[in-house]
Amino acid sequence: MSSNRSSRLPGFFNLPLEQRLAKVVEVGDLNLEAQAALHGESGLTLEQADHMIENAIGLFSLPLGVAVNFIVNQREVLVPMVIEEPSVVAGASHMAKLARAGGGFTARTTEPEMIAQIQILDVPDLEAASQQLLRHKQELLAKADLVDQAINRLGGGARDLEIRPLHDTPVGPMLVVHLIYDTRDAMGANVVNSVAESLAPTIESLTGGRVHLRILSNLADRRLAHASCRIPAKELAFGQFSGDQVRDGIIEAWAFAVADPYRAATHNKGIMNGVDAVLIATGNDWRAVEAGAHAYAARDGSYTSLSRWWVTKQGALEGTLEMPLAVGTVGGATRVHPAAKACLRLMGVSSARELAEIVVSVGLAQNLAALRALATEGIQRGHMELHARQVAIAAGAHGALIERVARQLIAEGVMILERAQEMVRRWNEE
Ligand code: MEV
Repeated sequence: MSSNRSSRLPGFFNLPLEQRLAKVVEVGDLNLEAQAALHGESGLTLEQADHMIENAIGLFSLPLGVAVNFIVNQREVLVPMVIEEPSVVAGASHMAKLARAGGGFTARTTEPEMIAQIQILDVPDLEAASQQLLRHKQELLAKADLVDQAINRLGGGARDLEIRPLHDTPVGPMLVVHLIYDTRDAMGANVVNSVAESLAPTIESLTGGRVHLRILSNLADRRLAHASCRIPAKELAFGQFSGDQVRDGIIEAWAFAVADPYRAATHNKGIMNGVDAVLIATGNDWRAVEAGAHAYAARDGSYTSLSRWWVTKQGALEGTLEMPLAVGTVGGATRVHPAAKACLRLMGVSSARELAEIVVSVGLAQNLAALRALATEGIQRGHMELHARQVAIAAGAHGALIERVARQLIAEGVMILERAQEMVRRWNEE
């Protein structure tokens, strides 16, 4: 996105789809190729799909939306989101608008360090083996650095080695080596797994044990992303709810998630609605991020909220989200899928860290959208309109009939397919 453009696009929601795309292309300064990719005309080809996975038989589409109003680290950004669930894109956009009053989102990330795990079994003496590995740490790091010269040239590579004895497992004691590796702009699964495999023979000879698993950890707790935002209470007011009421209701809702894993799972799912949608749009491995997020949410022994919300001295609502975010802007689908390339271009990100900073901000916005709705009118009202349209389409409505059927379903307060089919039949005959 060009630097002097704003992501604040009033009325964007009400434009027809083609005009929305045209606006995004204009604001995002996208070329024709990117435009065609976003429109779905030149998305992934069957040939590309065939090279991506085994037994490919075709393609599967999902809606691509754009969240507006985002400012992340003082930069205006249009955020592409791929998701089938209604209300997610609207929720993120709306909260990003409220956050603008406090300057938008401030986000930061740690170095992109991943963990390669090497499991060693049948170790004669855990303590002696640990000492031996630590004595040869530099040699092991140097060996790890031979695996990917390109990452080394870009400033990444092996950073550290940690030893973790596990004394009590179902198969007895074992030693685990963590090789810390900076993957720069790659998500890094391939290189990290290769590093783990390359070190196995040396580790066996140093420890006298038997190396078993050699694989990255998705609990990427050295690759964290952190976002915060502050919203003046008056911005939160709507309908019959005062700003203070909404703010306090959000904090009460958050407290529920802090204390109760049953609620925390749903609370964090709401965060991942936003996170995953951007990850899918950019061709990233959202399962890896999901696994890391939930493991991180349980890091202190009980599963809890990934976000925090509180009231500032001035009475504003302030919130933060911190989670592992192993994402890449090079390698994998990010560079193969034409729409993923166009989405990266739209955000104008130049590094994986910058992408993670946007993603974590969207996660925080999404959490706020859910809490605000739940703490006030409930989420069903917001869902209704889009849900009604989906029921109308499922009932066979086309063109203007979709809106007509949807409006009638809302008016009647029923979301029943058979009722929508009746309307379609009747109005088609008019
Ligand atoms: C629905 O996809 C997400 C929510 O359930 C999240 C939440 O409850 O916080 C609305």
